[in-house]
Amino acid sequence: MSPKTIIIAHRGASGEAPENTMAAFQLAEEQGAEGMELDIHLSADGEIIVCHDATVDRTTNGTGRIENLTVTELKQLDAGSWFHSKFQAEKLPLLEEVFSVLKPETFLNIEVKCSYSQLLEERLMELVLQYGRLEQVVVSSFEHKTLVKLKKRIPKIRIGLLYSANFQSHSLMAASSGVEVYSLHPHFEWLGAEDIEDAIQQGVRVYPYTINSETDGIPLFQAKVSGVITDYPARIKAVRDSFY
Ligand code: G3P
Ligand code: MG
Repeated sequence: MSPKTIIIAHRGASGEAPENTMAAFQLAEEQGAEGMELDIHLSADGEIIVCHDATVDRTTNGTGRIENLTVTELKQLDAGSWFHSKFQAEKLPLLEEVFSVLKPETFLNIEVKCSYSQLLEERLMELVLQYGRLEQVVVSSFEHKTLVKLKKRIPKIRIGLLYSANFQSHSLMAASSGVEVYSLHPHFEWLGAEDIEDAIQQGVRVYPYTINSETDGIPLFQAKVSGVITDYPARIKAVRDSFY
């Protein structure tokens, strides 16, 4: 029997709580998500901050680029009120806090938005090893060269290729990277059942994004996709569960 499709909360349960905050991650865990997707950047003092954008402008009450702000400055910001006043206590999380708070078995898809001259990957690997999460983490990025470099330097780390394109063969695209690719993370609109079947046969998992409706989820569950990335883990988990 093929493994169960896992539910991966996109930036946490970001449809119902402010994205990439502990509130969003904890809500996703309560809703039964087996995995989290989150985005990271590097602070001025070299810590990994969980945030989608390179600036704090959209998701906090502050302004500026994360790379120009220290952890002390970043921690003063309100990262929840923009979503709803009841989340005003939310702060930008450090990756370290996510590792400390979430269940150790939770699958973590950590998306690298920018390498910061490889300083980000160095700190990331320190934390992954310190918290013993090599088996739970997949590092993904739209920047495939960054991932290939990381994989060559740390062969034990799992990498996942993010993309939004209709490749002739998704599995051949992965193979052409020249390193072992753990997973493919395509935009779901560019993915057919045959692509899923072929990749899984080649030993590569498939985690499409962002699946928020039943209509979008059903063909993927029918094709026994490895996992789906969603803003609404409770809603999509209910659809997934109807297949098992
Ligand atoms: O990892 C899937 C998805 O997060 C990629 O796009 O912009 O939401 O980080 P984005
Ligand atoms: Mg992302």
